[in-house]
Amino acid sequence: MDADQPPAVRASASAVSAHSASAAAGRLAGTAAEPGVRKPDPLLVLDGVTRTFGGLVAVRVDHLEVQRGAITALIGPNGAGKTTLFNIVSGFDRAGRGSWSFDGHPLTGRPAHRVARQGLVRTFQLPRTLSRLTVRENMMLAAAGQHGERLLSAVLRPLWRRQEREAGRRADELLERFRLGGVRDDYAGTLSGGQRKLLELARVLMVRPVMVLLDEPVAGVNPALSQSLLGHITELRDEGLTVCFVEHDMDVVMGISDWVAVMADGRLVAEGPPHTIGQNPAVVDAYLGRRHDEPGAPGVEPTGDQSTGDQLTGDKRAGDQPTGDEPTGDKE
Ligand SMILES: Nc1ncnc2c1ncn2[C@@H]1O[C@H](COP(=O)(O)OP(=O)(O)OP(=O)(O)O)[C@@H](O)[C@H]1O
Ligand SMILES: [Mg+2]
Repeated sequence: MDADQPPAVRASASAVSAHSASAAAGRLAGTAAEPGVRKPDPLLVLDGVTRTFGGLVAVRVDHLEVQRGAITALIGPNGAGKTTLFNIVSGFDRAGRGSWSFDGHPLTGRPAHRVARQGLVRTFQLPRTLSRLTVRENMMLAAAGQHGERLLSAVLRPLWRRQEREAGRRADELLERFRLGGVRDDYAGTLSGGQRKLLELARVLMVRPVMVLLDEPVAGVNPALSQSLLGHITELRDEGLTVCFVEHDMDVVMGISDWVAVMADGRLVAEGPPHTIGQNPAVVDAYLGRRHDEPGAPGVEPTGDQSTGDQLTGDKRAGDQPTGDEPTGDKE
C-alpha cells in the first residue's frame, strides 16, 4: 500500500485548455457537480457500499453513478479507498455491505470471472502480466478464461479451435494497435514498465469489454508512452467503451476525463466536470486537510501559483514504477 506517500495532484491551466470537449462530456453538461448525483445514462450504479479492514473503514460510498460512454476519473489522496472500490466492483474483494448494478443487472458479490463475462474488467495498479509467458501468450490467456474448460471436450474441439483462431487474430490486432507487435514473442518479463502498462490495457480488451476500470494506467510511465496510452484510452472511449480510471496526476485527469469523482477517507466527497474540481472546497480539504491538521505533513506543500485555484501539489508517480517481478496471479 502507498498510504504514506505524498498525494500527487497537480493541474496546469494549459492542461485544462488542452482538453477537447467530447460528446460524452456534452451529455453530462447539465449534471450538477454534487457527490452522488444522478447521471443521464448510468452504466454502473453503487449503493451503500462499505468495506472495513479491522477497525478501518476503507470504503463507505453512499451512492455513485458512472456515466455510460464517458471517461470518469476517480481521484483522491493515498489511502482514500480507490483501489478497494475497484476491487469490490470487479469481484476481487467482497464488500461488507451495499449493492451495485451494471447495465441494469445486479452485480453485487459476483466473482471476478462473472463480472468480466458481463463486460466489466479492470487493470491493476501493478501490472499482472505473467513474466515467463510471451506477450502474445499473455493476451491469449486473457481470452481463454472466457471460454472455459468445458469447451475443450472432444465434441466441441472444432468450435474451440475456431475461437482460438479468433482470439489469435484479436490478440495480433490489439498488439499492433498498441505498438507491441514487435515484441509479441518476447517474454513479458523483458518489457519496460510502460510496455507492461500497455500490455495490461491490451489484455483486458481481449474480452471486448463494455467498461474498464483502470487503476493508475500511466503511473510510472515515461511521458511519450504515457501520451500514447492516454491517446488509446480516449480513442477507446470514442469507440463507445466506458472508462473509469484512478489517477493522481491532474494534468492527466484534466487532459482526458469527462467527469471526475473524488474520494477521501473512503467516502465520495465531490463530483463534477474536470474544470470545476480544483476549486471545490471539499477537494481542497481532502488533499490539504492533513496540512491544516498537521503542519508540515509530508509531501503536501503550497503551490507557487494559486491563480487558477485548481493546483494541488505532490507527486507519487515514481512510487508506482513496476518492479522486476510483479505479482503473477491472475484471477480474471
Ligand atoms: N487488504 C487490506 N488490509 C488492510 N487494510 C487495507 C487493505 N487494503 C487496503 N487497506 C487500507 O484501506 C485504505 C484504502 O486503501 P486503497 O488501497 O483502496 O487506497 P487508494 O485510494 O487506492 O490509495 P493509493 O492512491 O495509495 O493507491 C487504506 O487505509 C489501506 O491501508
Ligand atoms: Mg490505489
